[in-house]
Amino acid sequence: MRSVVIAEPGKLLLEERPLPQPAAGEVRVKVNYASICGSDVHIWHGHNPFARYPRVIGHEFFGVIDATGEGVDPARLGERVAVDPVVSCGHCYPCSVGRPNVCSELQVIGVHHDGGFSEYAVAPARNAYRVPEAIPDKLASLIEPFTIAANICAFLQPKPADVALIFGAGPMGLTAIQALKNVFKVRKVIVADRLPERLAMAQENGADVVLNNSETPLATQLGSEKPTLIIDAACHPAILAEAVALASPAARIGLLGFSGEPCTVTQQSLTSKELSLFTSRLNSQRFPEVIGWLEQKLIQPEKLVTHYMPLSDVEAAMTLFEKDPRSCCKVILSIS
Ligand code: NAI
Ligand code: MN
Ligand code: ZN
Repeated sequence: MRSVVIAEPGKLLLEERPLPQPAAGEVRVKVNYASICGSDVHIWHGHNPFARYPRVIGHEFFGVIDATGEGVDPARLGERVAVDPVVSCGHCYPCSVGRPNVCSELQVIGVHHDGGFSEYAVAPARNAYRVPEAIPDKLASLIEPFTIAANICAFLQPKPADVALIFGAGPMGLTAIQALKNVFKVRKVIVADRLPERLAMAQENGADVVLNNSETPLATQLGSEKPTLIIDAACHPAILAEAVALASPAARIGLLGFSGEPCTVTQQSLTSKELSLFTSRLNSQRFPEVIGWLEQKLIQPEKLVTHYMPLSDVEAAMTLFEKDPRSCCKVILSIS
């Protein structure tokens, strides 16, 4: 089989590899489509502290079960599935309280284990979620990025009365816009970005107001509008203090970033408005929820996609994705 392998930081290869056999409790998926995520680029460049090399990357993928390991119902052969990359132990404290995404022994497919930029991939059978016929093959890999929005929304509990502010109109900001507007029916969604092309995508994805904060500070542009729910999907460490300053009293703030640089906020700025801060990592069993959103046609994943490219063009696809955020948002690789 052909696989995209990061042999070592900086070295991306399209390699011929032996077909993996599913172990007990696992399935093998013949991958049809996979989407490129920022973290794939980070692993390529050696910027993901969790990655081990050599690694087959890709954690957003869709395909058909073509082999089952011991103990897995063979009736699942031929099932169309999207794979949740979060592999957890099932017995540690976070697992026991329904937070397998921060399992003490967390393993992420495409990061710690070989992933889906490959003609075949293996995964625990319980991570392979059946995709209903209503969801087309070439969009099903986008279930995973929408689970990130679902996960942070589970903490933030968006309500129709909210005025939301999202920093960043990349894939993460766009999934959050769609979830807030179309699923949670939030009254107003304001989106800030520095790139006009990304703001145009935000509008296309349902934002009510888009603000370019490259020159004029958001505080000036927002005037008396006080957001009650804020999501940082741009993830620069300076954004937290800005979000805290802009927030309405009683607002909730959701953070998605992994920067190692400090964020500086005072207790007074948080406590005087009794702000709630939430962080969210990956997703905690949110595939069924997002599959439900898709079945009900609440979300439109195609609005994130700017390019479809074949597996053979993976390096060009990842370079475009990395270097050209003005023209490129989600890239779907057709694998087989
Ligand atoms: P992206 O880089 O495509 O999008 C970020 C957007 O923010 C860009 O459009 C950029 O122009 C904009 N931006 C940068 N600085 C800004 C600022 N100060 N104000 C307003 N906009 C600004 O990235 P993507 O894929 O959307 O991911 C966003 C972040 O989310 C990344 O930092 C990533 O690490 C994080 N992430 C976190 C996950 C989690 O589970 N916690 C999962 C996936 C991504
Ligand atoms: Mn991703
Ligand atoms: Zn665990």
